Amino acid sequence: METISFARGIPAPELLPVSELADCARAAIERDGRTILNYGPAGGYAPLRGWIAERHGVDPDRVVLTNGSLQGLAFLARELVAKGRVLVETPTYDRPLKLLAELGADVRGIPLDDEGLDVDALAAELDAGAVSFLYTIPTFQNPTGRTLSTERRRRLVELAREHDLLVVEDDPYGLVRFEGEPPPTLFELAGGEGVVYGSSFSKTIAPGARVGYLVLPHRLAGAVTASATATYITPSLVGEAAVYEFLRRGLLDPNLIRVREALRERRDAMLAALERELGDAGRWSRPEGGYFLWLELADDVDARELLARAEAAGVTFVPGVDFGGPPNSLRLAFSFVDAGAVAEGVSRLASLVPAAASVQLAQ
Ligand SMILES: Cc1ncc(COP(=O)(O)O)c(C=O)c1O
Repeated sequence: METISFARGIPAPELLPVSELADCARAAIERDGRTILNYGPAGGYAPLRGWIAERHGVDPDRVVLTNGSLQGLAFLARELVAKGRVLVETPTYDRPLKLLAELGADVRGIPLDDEGLDVDALAAELDAGAVSFLYTIPTFQNPTGRTLSTERRRRLVELAREHDLLVVEDDPYGLVRFEGEPPPTLFELAGGEGVVYGSSFSKTIAPGARVGYLVLPHRLAGAVTASATATYITPSLVGEAAVYEFLRRGLLDPNLIRVREALRERRDAMLAALERELGDAGRWSRPEGGYFLWLELADDVDARELLARAEAAGVTFVPGVDFGGPPNSLRLAFSFVDAGAVAEGVSRLASLVPAAASVQLAQ
């Protein structure tokens, strides 16, 4: 029996634009090989920086391209961490948590609900002493799939202004929206000031290209570029130039349509299967995009123990505790397997969960 993975928060291989990107990489090297096959600027391939700068309405010097956005976030965290407490959502993406722990950061969690980050709890933390920065994933959050409402976005930006709080907005999933109106980004609401905006082409083109970026205030752009120089001299210019060629050819929009369509089908299959198989035995988020949904089971279920049984039954997921969530929570990624496998995987999982009737869910 083949294992069905709801653990892998990565695109399925069939969603990657292989032949288009191969053409783009060849064309980029043929046209600009003498630049991109050499060492170059630590901030990345100038035409792509220009493209991103235009999209966000900023000076290109404020855009730093890194080998994936996580690398940029690591450089930034290293620069900022000594300045005070770091606020994060609870739960949140596990890699920044590990990175911050390695840096010895004083990390404080702010709870999330269905509308995203609890802004009242944020206000209370801001009154409690110096904060270095807030790390937030407002749209289709990893791991919960939740999106911060527009009203809360406005309040968050207001609070940030009042308290001179630097907000680091990590937004790799914003363009992977299947339905509904996109809310403004925090960066947009703040008029591009006081918010660092990070994103990448990992979810919109291909993660293996390793092309991510940060839009930063000038001073921090300088510091992050200096870290990049000290770490790898120059980022992967070949990947950046291939991505730029992909954009230049107008391939992003058709690719997004294809990716959104496929992921929507998988999300729908997961929601339908959860309804059918779990019913009242769980409570889950209903994301309008992205890769993940968040499942909470009865209070007495231990997702780690469930995972051991699930692996034996041919289905995997990531226990919510890995992201700072409660013991009865699970992150389910619908990005990696097709709709048929999604339904089968949920059915395998549900067969291991105590019957709906015995369940008393919190909230
Ligand atoms: C919220 C979030 N930020 C950053 C990343 C890292 O992306 P990249 O491939 O750009 O390093 C991921 C990847 O899953 C993610 O979920």
